[in-house]
Amino acid sequence: MKSYKILQNAKNLKKLVIAIDGPAASGKSTTSKLIAKRLGYLYVDTGAMYRAMTLKVLQQNISLDQTETIGRLAKRTQIRLDQSDGELKVFLDNRDVTQAIRNQAVTRAVSTVSMIKKVREVMVREQRRMGKRGGIVLEGRDIGTVVFPNADLKIFMVAHVEERARRRQKELKKQGVKVSVEQLVKELVERDRKDSKRDISPLQKAEDAVILDTSKMTLVGQADFVVQKVQEILKKR
Ligand code: CDP
Ligand code: CDP
Repeated sequence: MKSYKILQNAKNLKKLVIAIDGPAASGKSTTSKLIAKRLGYLYVDTGAMYRAMTLKVLQQNISLDQTETIGRLAKRTQIRLDQSDGELKVFLDNRDVTQAIRNQAVTRAVSTVSMIKKVREVMVREQRRMGKRGGIVLEGRDIGTVVFPNADLKIFMVAHVEERARRRQKELKKQGVKVSVEQLVKELVERDRKDSKRDISPLQKAEDAVILDTSKMTLVGQADFVVQKVQEILKKR
């Protein structure tokens, strides 16, 4: 009887759609990965998809104001997220771009490419396809508001901008890139502004999202918080 119940729970667990949104370096990716692992869910980094698209635009030397050209290009672009060996790998037209999409040139251009309507349409369609069977954690900017407005659980992660800049600085240091916290604060504020002010699918908290301020939390604490919420939802079912 007990094992049957666990199985039932496991089945229910597989069905949830978890939406995690918030500004850059608030902890979305790291926390989402941990949650997905603990729940046996699929993890989708939607920012990586916009980054891959941006990399292609930069590699083809297309000016960022060529919105129609970029929109047409999006339709002819294949972006694949692969988690077969545990690590998330990003493929752009069958080439592994997992590292390349994290470079500073992509980071500086990605918000502009993400404003283009056609680009968003292509990405959102693919994200909905990946999530339609549930058992998935998707993180980005518009998951709870646009991609899955009926998600079972919506978390909106935030953190003080200085703390987010310090986190980014550490990551960049590991890549051998030296940038001051002041410079990173400026870049984060600018990206938050662009992401929040755009006309289509701006970064905003869904009305029914739970705010999670990670400024003083640990990664495990963040993951525990979300898993606890999942358990509360499953108990009510
Ligand atoms: O990892 P980081 O927080 O730096 O950003 P990301 O999640 O990789 O997202 C990069 C950029 O993609 C964001 O600044 C947004 O401009 C865009 N994005 C978006 O428009 N919609 C999403 N669902 C995810 C990302
Ligand atoms: O996906 P998003 O851009 O929101 O943030 P992230 O890439 O998950 O996190 C940015 C960095 O902050 C990562 O290197 C995390 O390890 C680190 N970090 C965190 O997310 N949460 C903490 N409580 C402490 C550090």
